[in-house]
Amino acid sequence: MAEETSGGLVPHFSVFIDAGIGDFTKAAANCICSSHDRDLQIGELQTMWTTPANRNLVLPLLSVRTGFDLFLRVMNFPPGSEIIMSALNIPDMIQIVRHHSLRIVPLDIRIETAAPKVDLLPQLVSPRTVAIVIAHLYGKWSPMDEIIAFAKERNIYVVEDCAECFCGFERLSHPETDVALFSFGVIKFYTSFGGAIAKVRDRELYTKLVALHETYNMQSSSTYLKKILRYLCMYLVLDVPLIAKTGVKTLRTFNVDYMYHGVKMLRGFPDQLMQKIRERPSGALLATMLHRQKSFSATEFCLQRLKAEYVAARLPRGLDVVGSKASVNNYWLFPVVTENPDNLVFLLNALGVEAYRGATQLNVVEPHNGHPNPLLPAHANNSTTGDKNNSAEQYHSGDSDTFVMSCAGDCPDPAETDRNDCGNQVDFAKEGTGSPQHIPTVNKQYPHEAKYLIDHVVYLPVHKLVPFHQLNRMLRAVKIAVDLHRSSNGPGVKVRFPSKL
Ligand SMILES: Cc1ncc(COP(=O)(O)O)c(C=O)c1O
Repeated sequence: MAEETSGGLVPHFSVFIDAGIGDFTKAAANCICSSHDRDLQIGELQTMWTTPANRNLVLPLLSVRTGFDLFLRVMNFPPGSEIIMSALNIPDMIQIVRHHSLRIVPLDIRIETAAPKVDLLPQLVSPRTVAIVIAHLYGKWSPMDEIIAFAKERNIYVVEDCAECFCGFERLSHPETDVALFSFGVIKFYTSFGGAIAKVRDRELYTKLVALHETYNMQSSSTYLKKILRYLCMYLVLDVPLIAKTGVKTLRTFNVDYMYHGVKMLRGFPDQLMQKIRERPSGALLATMLHRQKSFSATEFCLQRLKAEYVAARLPRGLDVVGSKASVNNYWLFPVVTENPDNLVFLLNALGVEAYRGATQLNVVEPHNGHPNPLLPAHANNSTTGDKNNSAEQYHSGDSDTFVMSCAGDCPDPAETDRNDCGNQVDFAKEGTGSPQHIPTVNKQYPHEAKYLIDHVVYLPVHKLVPFHQLNRMLRAVKIAVDLHRSSNGPGVKVRFPSKL
């Protein structure tokens, strides 16, 4: 037990750097070597990324964020145009949309597949919609056929955000997608410590993207080298168990929130986002991308899935693996949802398992109106906040776990709003009481399930570097934590799964 409570049970974190020390050395050497033939490097990447299943044009970039911003710059959509986006993404992607004076309409996702709720698209689309951005989350691939057919009928662009799901060249994005973006940032599979690839369907669009991209300054080798050195420090902590063990012990002694600081150090563009993403990749970065991607091994890649499936099959009841029903699942990170995530993290940390809630910056994509109360119809969200006469009011039922909502006024006439935002009725009654208590009005545009996911997610340290015997230890600790939680709470209040909304 002494070992278990001293940060030593499972000396792995929920994120890792998918590279070896040799890759760091090579990347650093690429920065020092000044003779890079960029055209040759780009040509080689283009050949590698042009496959029989996907012949779309290839543009190597500094980051996915660079590619997304480049696309929006070239398209120059009128201010106020709407972009429908999967309801989970990193804040920078949202900031880029806002920078272009565009409005975001979030498309909710299902926890069990991590895929978007395609059936909501007809409610979300409007004459102002110009693009649909689908993020394949946590290494799961979402089906695209239906989305592409929907967009084609309406002349809307489709962007696939494949930042989290590179899995080799056998499976790339959908060939009919207008722009697909793959990331090789530091915590991505086969990282090159930065870099991205865009696959572009239309030659005319591609030519415009390349022309604007050519006007960007080149990222300097020294900037790239500084990143590599910063990530090397993180690599030593994240990927070398002995250092992780002693490091965690020391930092805990000094009460340092090492996870918070660690995740911060992994950020690609910690400041001046718009300025810093508008650069071209250096020859050194292109060389590292080539080196890493040429060494892709399907056998090695499978290990991640193998270990994740091993854990998923053995988790105790009460924890749901996000995307467990996805048809293609490559397990980038291992997110689970649970009723009381903070308690689970607290107990697991005490048992020496580095579970964490903020392992990634992924967050809910809130609707553009800025008053995203999920339980008010959209027109109420758009009106002045704090108005006591609003049609819905929220109060506490007196029961520690149950908020009840009452719809005091009339629901808006759907004809008066752009989209039918009202009309869903939710029974938030305590399970087992049998009596419905209050029937709230729900803003159907709000991404309820994505919000639930983020509010209840815990990332477990499950990845290809964690040996099986440590996965077993972690599973034992998870079982203890879940049992402890159950026994201290009794059967208690059951939170309704929001997919039933
Ligand atoms: C879903 C998603 N989109 C976009 C990005 C940004 O990728 P990049 O770091 O290449 O800009 C990330 C990476 O964190 C991501 O997870």
